[in-house]
Amino acid sequence: MDGDRRPLHAAGDVSIMHKIAVIAGDGIGKEVIPAGMAVLEAAAKGRNAALTFTELPWGCEYYLKQHRMLDEDGFERLAGFDAIYLGALGFPGVPDGVSAGLILAIRQRFDQYVNLRPMRLLPGLTSPLANRGAADIDMVCVRENSEGEYSGVGGRIHVGTAREVAQQVGVFTRHGIERIVRYAFELASTRPRKMLASATKSNALTHSMVLWDEVAEGVRRDFPSIDYRKYHVDALAARMITHPRTLDVLVTSNLFGDILTDIGSAISGSLGIAPGANINPTRKFPSMFEPIHGSAPDIAGKGIANPIGAIWAGALMLDHLGHRDVHDRVISAIERVVAGGTIRTPDLGGTATTKQMADAIVQEV
Ligand code: NAI
Ligand code: MG
Repeated sequence: MDGDRRPLHAAGDVSIMHKIAVIAGDGIGKEVIPAGMAVLEAAAKGRNAALTFTELPWGCEYYLKQHRMLDEDGFERLAGFDAIYLGALGFPGVPDGVSAGLILAIRQRFDQYVNLRPMRLLPGLTSPLANRGAADIDMVCVRENSEGEYSGVGGRIHVGTAREVAQQVGVFTRHGIERIVRYAFELASTRPRKMLASATKSNALTHSMVLWDEVAEGVRRDFPSIDYRKYHVDALAARMITHPRTLDVLVTSNLFGDILTDIGSAISGSLGIAPGANINPTRKFPSMFEPIHGSAPDIAGKGIANPIGAIWAGALMLDHLGHRDVHDRVISAIERVVAGGTIRTPDLGGTATTKQMADAIVQEV
């Protein structure tokens, strides 16, 4: 059964109505998503954005009762929304492959082939890297989100025997690489530094990553003003730590981006502040917005999760829906609260609760 439908009407009769499917999911997803909705409602007020949230009770708890992660017609229903706002999926008792499977399925099914992940040290936060400030860490990862190492192709045979074999097939297509690299070049063109770093590993992955590099070289010709470089992914991981200032936009395969963005969020102060957008640029299907962290069973239920990643992801959603002004309003409210320095959740070294942090951001909005 769905949760309450909560219409929110902005002033004036020019409001654009957006239907948002909300899957708070498991663990701290249930804590950070309400925080995000409260901030988005406050930020949309008085602007021409009207949001209707439909809360869907899907996830691991649902799985334990229904033996499935979502309703039978779940995908058809999701397809009818303008966007999906997701908390986190995964909880002890349900295999991670089952819970994460739903996220991967949504990304593939709705061809959300861009996973966009800003990684920025907000002024006022302390990076675990010594002597680095906000000017040093400002990157965005464009991660391929529909194929690559997470294609799901493969299997196991002779299970449980000494002859057991597992194959996990990386699937790289010219079409898939071309469109993600082009998206990254286009994004780099809009940023002041006009730099793009491609994560490769063509010295060891001599089929897939050689194709990746070849396709990127081809696309590059259309963007002569971009400073394009490729790095082997291991060296790029080290560079994010040692020379973060030399990096701006990154373009990566699915697995590489997954790993590099955890580094990016960690050097930005906390995994809890990092947002992610799963985008279908053609808009044929809804896009999905989520914090990059998981359900954090170690702190779930304590009310101390940092909601900034979820709130920032909500801002990306409003931007995608055409409300750049609402996005900017949310981001500057986050920045003011963080810079103020008094409200900090435990992951940032403070004692504030999820609700106190969310309330402070609502006040600033
Ligand atoms: P995790 O991201 O849930 O937690 C890693 C560490 O970061 C934990 O110590 C946690 O307390 C901390 N943390 C994460 N988010 C935080 C926040 N907002 N505020 C403060 N601290 C935060 O990753 P983990 O432990 O590897 O996975 C836990 C479960 O979440 C697993 O079932 C996993 O499959 C699932 N997961 C789901 C994801 C998703 O829904 N997109 C992404 C990653 C993991
Ligand atoms: Mg991850």
